[in-house]
Amino acid sequence: MVVLGAGPAGLLLGNLLHRGGIDCVVLERADRGHVQTRARAGFLAANTVRILDRHGLAGGLHRHGREHGACEFRTAEGRFRLDYGGLGRGERHTVYPQQDLVTDLLTHYLEAGGRIHFGTEALAVHDAGTTRPSVAVRETDGRPGHWRARYVAGCDGRHGAARRSLPPGAVRHHRDHGISWLGLLAQAPPSLDAVGYAVHDRGFAGHMARTPEVTRYYLQCERGTAAAARSDEDLWDELDTRMYAPEHGPLNRGRFLHRGVVDFESDVIEPLRHGSLLLAGDAASLISPSAAKGANLAVLEAELLAHALVADLAHGDPRALDRYSRQALAHIWRAQEFSHWMIRLLHREPSAPGSESFFHESLRLSRLESLRTSRTHQDWFAENYTGV
Ligand code: APR
Repeated sequence: MVVLGAGPAGLLLGNLLHRGGIDCVVLERADRGHVQTRARAGFLAANTVRILDRHGLAGGLHRHGREHGACEFRTAEGRFRLDYGGLGRGERHTVYPQQDLVTDLLTHYLEAGGRIHFGTEALAVHDAGTTRPSVAVRETDGRPGHWRARYVAGCDGRHGAARRSLPPGAVRHHRDHGISWLGLLAQAPPSLDAVGYAVHDRGFAGHMARTPEVTRYYLQCERGTAAAARSDEDLWDELDTRMYAPEHGPLNRGRFLHRGVVDFESDVIEPLRHGSLLLAGDAASLISPSAAKGANLAVLEAELLAHALVADLAHGDPRALDRYSRQALAHIWRAQEFSHWMIRLLHREPSAPGSESFFHESLRLSRLESLRTSRTHQDWFAENYTGV
């Protein structure tokens, strides 16, 4: 087995294949330092914690992660809090920075004797339609190389070699939501004991704790905005304006450790299996960060694919592998649907002209009001917010 990419999907898959007695190698373009320090997501759903627990890979998140079960909506009409941990299925999130999860998965994999090649860039997957596909790579020293195996798992993200090597029959469902967020990682303690969603005339603002010292903020911005366009001071003023709530003083300020702009796009590949090439994680589907589903989907798909590959390779039973694409896509579209709903809850309709925008805006405010007042709606929200 060849696994492309050492993110949450590729590393969980590598761990489970290795444990299943499958000879596999993970090929990763970046060096180990970069993989272990790249700050990205960190809001793990209960199902993700269950999966990692099931395989004895959750030690780090139980030691250092923090449970989270509340979100707060701030609007011009006032603010309301949802203790979603007591709603729906009664599930909560665990806040645990993705780079720490990736480091845990890598450590487990290497300690178990798993094989990984850092600095090895996959260029293309060949012969996916046969039982001996191969991966053309650029090795660490720049020389070309080839890896051949029974299956190739593409966990190398949206711009990886697996996606570039898909046969003409693959369908790509793409949607540009017309929304962009400036993501900010602040060296500052969280200002709320909840995920904060501020819906403001100047645009959306979001607050997500990462650790007791570090907080992630999001600011809706114009498409094409440069991440470095505004000073730290100016951005804090903007955050304070959009997240203002009379009961709460100003936000805890600090230096921004990282900035990056993310354009909201959804991008789903169908099917997720092309002969001996299988996709998982961002290589399978890209989802907006509006509902924090990306990393959770990656973990769910990696476990599903690992079980299917072990059943096929170790026990000669191909049925789970034949079902993989359909099963994973059902979860992907569920997450896409809720993520899309969150986009429309948290943002004004970007392109709606005059009267239509007023119509959309009234729908949005009514959605918020229903979420504030209807227990049934709150249970539905909690189930989808924590589910994957
Ligand atoms: N060859 C080898 N490795 C590659 C190549 C390539 N051509 N292209 C990308 N990679 C590596 C990247 O360096 C990265 O380490 O593939 C890995 C992909 O990891 P992620 O992007 O973390 O993707 P995935 O495991 O699918 O997890 C995705 O995590 O951060 C969240 O929200 C994010 O939804 C996303 C989820």
